[in-house]
Amino acid sequence: MFDSTKSSTRRGSSEQEESDTYDEPFMNARPHIDGSAGDVDYGVIGTGYAVYRQPDPRIAAQIARALGDAGTVLNVGAGSGNYEPADREVIAVEPSATMRAQRPPGSPPAIDAVAEHLPFPDGAFDAVMASSTVHQWADLAKGIAEMKRVSRGPVVVTVSDPVRLREFWLADYFPEPLDVESTRFPPIEWLVELLGPETRVEPIPIPLDCTDGFCEAYYGRPERFLEPGVQGAMSSWTLVDPPLVRRFETRLSADLASGAWDARYGYLRAQPEYDGSLRLVIRS
Ligand SMILES: C[S@@+](CC[C@H](N)C(=O)[O-])C[C@H]1O[C@@H](n2cnc3c(N)ncnc32)[C@H](O)[C@@H]1O
Repeated sequence: MFDSTKSSTRRGSSEQEESDTYDEPFMNARPHIDGSAGDVDYGVIGTGYAVYRQPDPRIAAQIARALGDAGTVLNVGAGSGNYEPADREVIAVEPSATMRAQRPPGSPPAIDAVAEHLPFPDGAFDAVMASSTVHQWADLAKGIAEMKRVSRGPVVVTVSDPVRLREFWLADYFPEPLDVESTRFPPIEWLVELLGPETRVEPIPIPLDCTDGFCEAYYGRPERFLEPGVQGAMSSWTLVDPPLVRRFETRLSADLASGAWDARYGYLRAQPEYDGSLRLVIRS
């Protein structure tokens, strides 16, 4: 197992966030003060993330199955630690200080680094995972190549299928964040090609009471879309002009009050699962 304490990169504690000089590629290219590496600044949008994005136990179980019997796991783009299996030895990589600060006490160590340059030797882990993060990476091919390099076994990636994403009912009311999201997430075929021939794709059923507040998690709970905290925990919503968000709120509120939403989609309020865009892509 790789010994993180001997890494040249830093552990994610707040005392360590002063402006050290990085000499690794990509580390200098991070545009945000808190170290965020993607197209959003988690220093601004990430403060409520852990409240609204609790790992869902059913999705966690599916990810755990995909990791097989791996004893050591690297979690890339780990955020506040969602979906890190508690029964394995985990190391996390997370560039945003704001997200590292939301890791619960006792969480596995989180290293300040990026997917495109993982500071570990070849084959350092039994398995490597990345959940809801690849759409934010500056260089997907490099990040996936790095995950494959440091894994001795499975590489497990949770993504949204950008084609399926546009089929969500929200597109009737507020297509803008879905448009944003579907240009950020890579085509599933591209991800499969990057991961290689031993790759399979599993749908992830989304439970009606899903505790992880990504967009489709609220398929049967439309009122939740009106909550600022729910909106702020979905990075694509923060990339849409605020007046468009207000226009959406007005439209959805009116249709909820008149019963128009329920007339079209009310069956979803009792549908136990939604087969949406969520996919588990597994290189075994
Ligand atoms: C939507 S959050 C997902 C966090 C967590 N994996 C989860 O499932 O809740 C996306 C995370 O990816 C991180 N991220 C963005 N660009 C990255 C990069 N190039 N390398 C590693 N992580 C990155 C962000 O800082 C953020 O914490």
